[in-house]
Amino acid sequence: MLHNDGNPSLELLYAEDKTVRDGNLTTTSIILKDPVYPVTVKLVFVAYYNEDIIKTWTEISHQEKNPVILSNFASAMIHLEADHYWLTQFHGDWAREMRMEESELTSGIKTIDSKLGTRANIFQTPVFMLAKNKAADENSGEVIAGTLGWTGSFQLSFEIDNSNSLRMIAGMNPFASEYHLKPNENFVTPEFIFTFSAQGKGLASRNFHQWARNYGVMDGHANRLTLLNNWESTYFDFNEKTLTELFGGAKELGVDVFLLDDGWFGNKYPRNSDQTGLGDWQANKQKLPHGLGYLVEQAEAKGVKFGIWIEPEMVNPKSELYEKHPDWILKLPNRDENYYRNQLVLDLTNPQVQDFVFNVVDEMMTKNPSIAFIKWDCNRMMTNTYSPYMKDNQSNVQIDYVRSFYQVMQRLRAKYPHLPIMLCSGGGGRTDYGALKYFTEFWPSDNTDALERVFIQWGYSYFFPNITSCNHITTMGKQSLKYKTDVAMMGKMGYDIRVNELSAQELEFSKMAVQNYNRLKGLIWNGDLYRLVSPYEEERAVLMYVSADKTKSLLFAYSLHPRAFSHFSPVRLTGLDPQKTYKVEETNKMPGVHTGFNLEGKTFSGDYLIKVGLSLPNNSELTSAVIEITEVK
Ligand code: GLA
Repeated sequence: MLHNDGNPSLELLYAEDKTVRDGNLTTTSIILKDPVYPVTVKLVFVAYYNEDIIKTWTEISHQEKNPVILSNFASAMIHLEADHYWLTQFHGDWAREMRMEESELTSGIKTIDSKLGTRANIFQTPVFMLAKNKAADENSGEVIAGTLGWTGSFQLSFEIDNSNSLRMIAGMNPFASEYHLKPNENFVTPEFIFTFSAQGKGLASRNFHQWARNYGVMDGHANRLTLLNNWESTYFDFNEKTLTELFGGAKELGVDVFLLDDGWFGNKYPRNSDQTGLGDWQANKQKLPHGLGYLVEQAEAKGVKFGIWIEPEMVNPKSELYEKHPDWILKLPNRDENYYRNQLVLDLTNPQVQDFVFNVVDEMMTKNPSIAFIKWDCNRMMTNTYSPYMKDNQSNVQIDYVRSFYQVMQRLRAKYPHLPIMLCSGGGGRTDYGALKYFTEFWPSDNTDALERVFIQWGYSYFFPNITSCNHITTMGKQSLKYKTDVAMMGKMGYDIRVNELSAQELEFSKMAVQNYNRLKGLIWNGDLYRLVSPYEEERAVLMYVSADKTKSLLFAYSLHPRAFSHFSPVRLTGLDPQKTYKVEETNKMPGVHTGFNLEGKTFSGDYLIKVGLSLPNNSELTSAVIEITEVK
């Protein structure tokens, strides 16, 4: 901290602490003060007893005459002592999100960060697992799992010092962000959320899932809508007729919502590609001559709800918005505009821009109150960032942008508390618990190839409950429809296909799959997840969900590319009650196709399934099976 008199230091001494217990939550605040300067730092820890989660953040304030400058402002610091430290991190890029990597930390500092501001997680996600002494597996080992709830640039650093102690520091990225803090303003850092498990990574994930459903995600226990999206089946090329046909397909499948994706807006600069129209949120008169209201009515007449895609924080230079409000855009003066996907980021720190973004949704919802779903996209990161509104306070922009984003979401949530909104950012470029307070679900990746999705969804499952993960069945990837469906069912299922291109058998299967999903979704969304066989370790992935009372469980098995004549061992199940007796039955079967599961209807003790395991059918490549495991009395 740089004080008004130029002193660049801060001394923090304990002043007082307070602990308040309120049911499941215990909140402890520790107040630190500088002995010379009027600065207070409050460290807050909220412990969730049942979920075994701690959420922590820092609050900084001062009473100097003029702003002080903050150069470092972490949310949390964890200090550990062990002989060895193993870090699991998740990295990627567009269409290859959440690749998992584990390595032993060595002395010095390892940093995982983003400086990208908006689509902040495109390369790194603010999540990690840290195992003490030896690498942890699913069911054994001491692990700390942590994540920063911040929808912007972040920094996680892990330093092993001279005495082999480890310090983990998590917070907003201080890079180019020296913050000018006004007197009496409370600078609140994002929440760092973490858990400890002495029984491996599986329990750490289950703690996160439970916490997320109870506290972390918008409407974490509410119903989710199955949907048919048109992005991969039409891209920008559609009109009223094509869409109305797709509504019929949605109805036929039995899904809840039709989601109209990008390409529906812009008139002076029609949105017929990603080069034009972004920012002009009026229905395109050529494609949709009767406007949005007509589409909503048509969908409802066909028996499905209507949802819509927006990307309200962004603008194409070829748009009326750009022409009208050049001063609403983040861009450096005296430099060329720097495009990514032909677009620029709006200056959300400007209250007028906040109103504009709020109104994109509000006007649409006021005119069409029965719109039932929104997909909120964010297709670029910040570069050449300069806010015309912030003038000489440019180093506050990255942080204030995210805070402004949250303010807009708070306004929207005050008016539309339960409208389902999908968080999307060119795939999973913006997936974190700061945003998920306002969003019901997220789009994990633009890569919908089911084989790739096994890995991507597996990666997200370490931190995010599957009720939040939108998994769509599409034409991408060479796997069978059955495989694609089984992969999508692992989380929140949806479609992005032309239903009229399915064969009669595929349609019959898909209708049945939607019905199965509706029957089983409670278990998929709220059950405890056990990852049984990792696709990183074998040429298959197996996982299961178990109900809290252990009477019902659902197992998903996917083969990848095993060698010819490979043999997989039986899979030992986890999470069942050894004392109970269970019947195993395969579900989601393609009519007329036998997967090779030969234990249909057999019963086993929980003890047997845990110790000996279940032989699964899918030995050949890209096959899958879904098995229901139900208690019999
Ligand atoms: C992003 C999203 C896609 C789709 C396109 C539309 O890439 O991730 O799902 O909505 O934008 O332009």
